[in-house]
Amino acid sequence: MRSIIIAGNWKMHKTQVEALDFLSSFVHEIDTAPGEREIVLCVPFTALSTLSKNLHGSRIRLGAQNVHWQDNGAFTGEISPPMLRELGVRYVVVGHSERRQYFGETDETVNLRSKAAQAHGLTPILCVGETKAQRDAGETETHILSQLKKGLEQVDQTNLVIAYEPIWAIGTGDTCADDEANRVVGLIRSQLTNTDVPIQYGGSVNPSNIDAIMAQPEIDGVLVGGASLKSDSFARIVNYQA
Ligand code: PGA
Repeated sequence: MRSIIIAGNWKMHKTQVEALDFLSSFVHEIDTAPGEREIVLCVPFTALSTLSKNLHGSRIRLGAQNVHWQDNGAFTGEISPPMLRELGVRYVVVGHSERRQYFGETDETVNLRSKAAQAHGLTPILCVGETKAQRDAGETETHILSQLKKGLEQVDQTNLVIAYEPIWAIGTGDTCADDEANRVVGLIRSQLTNTDVPIQYGGSVNPSNIDAIMAQPEIDGVLVGGASLKSDSFARIVNYQA
């Protein structure tokens, strides 16, 4: 039985005060969501401590947006797995396309980050996806298979989430067609040794398209950027109609 995981990725949005303001409405807006839906907020490092203290007794799980592979050391600007664990973090986004594109993440560093997260009991949400140019050139499959092969080397598939995020669909309003997202997610699943790994879709998910996306048989959840910033919008996504 595959888990359903609905995760918000706040990216570089919200101060602590804004995060608490979101939470004060969100907790009420999701209180009738079916219990089997795992709800995750992947927030800036600076909001983790405050949210962690305010999530006690809540079903909402805390996620970070990146993690280094060493426990400590001379790595200015990085955050280690034990630092996240101490704050009650359960999930961590690894290899988001914005990290790959703007901050030089490679499949190798993504792989190191995923393994280190797992070694400390965190669940990596490993992101893969093609650019528009790769899609137009018919390279979607080869690109994703290559990202998976390198990214998943020695990664424990019993503590893992994968997010298929076509880069051209992120933040553009240009959602991938539901059946095409389903097809690529199925292709990703065919590469796994554990076919129960939850695989999310991400890229312009919003309250209007969530029901159709979640109706796709291969898709086990979503990773949501822009539409996770407002509590009513993200709550509608969490409360999708099955
Ligand atoms: P979006 O972002 O929902 O704003 O397209 C998704 C993501 O980057 O994870």
